[in-house]
Amino acid sequence: MMIKKDLTGLRQEYAAVSLYEHTAHSNPFIQFANWLDQAIMAELPEPNAMTLASVDHHGKPHARVVLLKELDERGFVFYTNYNSNKGQELNRNPHAALVFLWLELHRQVRVEGLVEKVPENDSDTYFASRPVSSQLGAIASPQSTVIRSRDSLEKQFETIKATLTGKAIKRPDHWGGYRLIPDRFEFWQGRENRLHDRLLYVSGKDGWTISRLAP
Ligand SMILES: Cc1cc2nc3c(=O)[nH]c(=O)nc-3n(C[C@H](O)[C@H](O)[C@H](O)COP(=O)(O)O)c2cc1C
Repeated sequence: MMIKKDLTGLRQEYAAVSLYEHTAHSNPFIQFANWLDQAIMAELPEPNAMTLASVDHHGKPHARVVLLKELDERGFVFYTNYNSNKGQELNRNPHAALVFLWLELHRQVRVEGLVEKVPENDSDTYFASRPVSSQLGAIASPQSTVIRSRDSLEKQFETIKATLTGKAIKRPDHWGGYRLIPDRFEFWQGRENRLHDRLLYVSGKDGWTISRLAP
C-alpha cells in the first residue's frame, strides 16, 4: 500500500498575539507559568502534555510525550518507570529537552537542561495520590519491554489486583519522578508573514539573559 500526503498547501497565518522583550517576564519560569495558565484557561486538551527527548548510549535521540505534574522554580517534574527506555537513557545521560505545543494559541515552548530523580518521599506522595487503577497499572506494566500479548498484560493486571486488593499499595522502586532543571528556555509565538517571535532565555552566573532569535 502506498501512502502519500501532500501537506504543502496547509498554511495558517498567526496574527493575534505578540511576544516582546519588554512584555515577557524576566524570569522564564514565571513567563512559562503565565503561558501554561493561558493554555489551561483556553481549555486546550492536555495543556500539560510535553514531548520529552532523551539520548541513548549511541547518541541517538528518542522522543515521547509525558505529562508535566509539578512545576516550581526548581524545574519540571514528570513521573514514569525508571526501568523504561527513557529511564535508562536519562540515568545514563541526564541531558534532556522538553517541548510544549499549544497550537490553538500558536505557541511552542522549548526547555532544556539536566534531569535528576525527585526525592523518594515526593514520588511516594504523588504515587499515593493516584487512582488505585493507575497504581496497579504502574506495578503491572514493565514499560518499554516487549510483551507477549494484550491478554498477558491484562492477566498480569488482574493477578496484581487480586493480590493487592484491600492492602496498602506501596510505590514500586522502579517508578517515580524526574525533575528537569532548565538552563535554557525558548518561547515561540506565531506572528504574521512568518515573522514569528522567538525569545531565548539562557541561564548564566548573573541570572537569565534574554535574546531574540530569527524565526
Ligand atoms: C498524552 C500522553 C501522556 C503521557 N504521559 C506519560 C507520563 O506522564 N509518563 C509516562 O511514563 N508515559 C506517558 N505517556 C506514554 C509515553 O509517551 C511513552 O509511550 C512511554 O512512557 C514509554 O516511553 P519509552 O519507551 O521511551 O520509555 C504518555 C503518552 C501520551 C500520548
